Amino acid sequence: MPLVCLTDFRAQAQERLSKSTWDYIEGGADEGLTRDDNITAFKKIRLRPRYLRDVSEVDTRTTIQGAEISAPICIAPSGFHCVAWPDGEMSTARAAQAAGICYITSTYASCSLEDIVSTAPSGLRWFQLYVQPDRQLNKQLIQRVESLGFKALVITVDVPTVGNRRHDIRNQLDLKMNLMLKDLRAPEEKNSIPYLQVSSISKSLCWNDLSWFQGITRLPIILKGILTKEDAELAVKHNVQGIIVSNHGGRQLDEVPATIDALTEVVAAVQGKIEVYLDGGVRTGNDVLKALALGAKCVFLGRPVLWGLACKGEHGVEEVLNILKKEFHTSMTLTGCRSIAEISRDLIQFSRL
Ligand code: FNR
Repeated sequence: MPLVCLTDFRAQAQERLSKSTWDYIEGGADEGLTRDDNITAFKKIRLRPRYLRDVSEVDTRTTIQGAEISAPICIAPSGFHCVAWPDGEMSTARAAQAAGICYITSTYASCSLEDIVSTAPSGLRWFQLYVQPDRQLNKQLIQRVESLGFKALVITVDVPTVGNRRHDIRNQLDLKMNLMLKDLRAPEEKNSIPYLQVSSISKSLCWNDLSWFQGITRLPIILKGILTKEDAELAVKHNVQGIIVSNHGGRQLDEVPATIDALTEVVAAVQGKIEVYLDGGVRTGNDVLKALALGAKCVFLGRPVLWGLACKGEHGVEEVLNILKKEFHTSMTLTGCRSIAEISRDLIQFSRL
């Protein structure tokens, strides 16, 4: 049977992966309420289509941080792609390049950054940083990704400690993850800097530290994991270039709002001064349309990319992206939107929000 939607990939990925790998990918923190809410909250929103608008040509292209992408559907950072497919992030990078969208590579990639870049040299890439307690390690890593052609630095802010993921604790997953971690130091630095470990993410990071990052890189800085208007205002005040409204796919603090519900207050707070993106629970073209109608410039996919990898490697990720792009094209056509600029809040039926 052909795989025709993202949930088809989900079902097949579950059949292919071991229980502990499936639990690692799929799991949420604590009771998994936010993970599930991310999906159901999209389904509570209804659309207001407009007709008779000549939709013979529909253009899904847009830009993020000035770079063109074929559709506002990109790849969120997730660690350890090698658990889903042997050459892991290299397959993901090739699929993203073929699809003409952006791939945010995780600090916890299981392939080296050099290999990821050389396998898909013309793809648009951003780098996601888990800030390390050792400043030198951050600095050298950032300079390295800058010289490798990554176009933005995505700092994940919602992991001062890892959320309580019961399934991973039951499955005793930590050790396996540490073993898979590719050392992110450049070869010449190997003797002088401590090893990167899954457990070492800075707990002390705060707003005032952002100027240090801005002082060592020219890359735009995007904060991933913002959920409130207060933090969105601070992000603007601290001169970052973008926000990803994210709750880490419900893997960090449980019982925070679904991202599509948090989006509105963040968009209102930034007043168009910086780009706002969203991840979490995006599974259909209508979900993408709703996120854009509520002010997101682009959405990012987490788990669906890993499902694609687990099913068919590079081709699976390409299929996942192409299915969603096609669904989004259909959603635009059926609501009378010929370009991204025509997607507006008028598409959303507010009484259902
Ligand atoms: C993640 N996520 C994540 N985020 C991040 O900033 N750095 C990382 O290394 C990871 N790793 C990771 C692993 C796995 C297995 C998952 C499922 C997620 C979070 C990710 O970027 C994103 O926020 C969510 O996955 C989006 O939600 P959906 O699309 O999975 O519902």
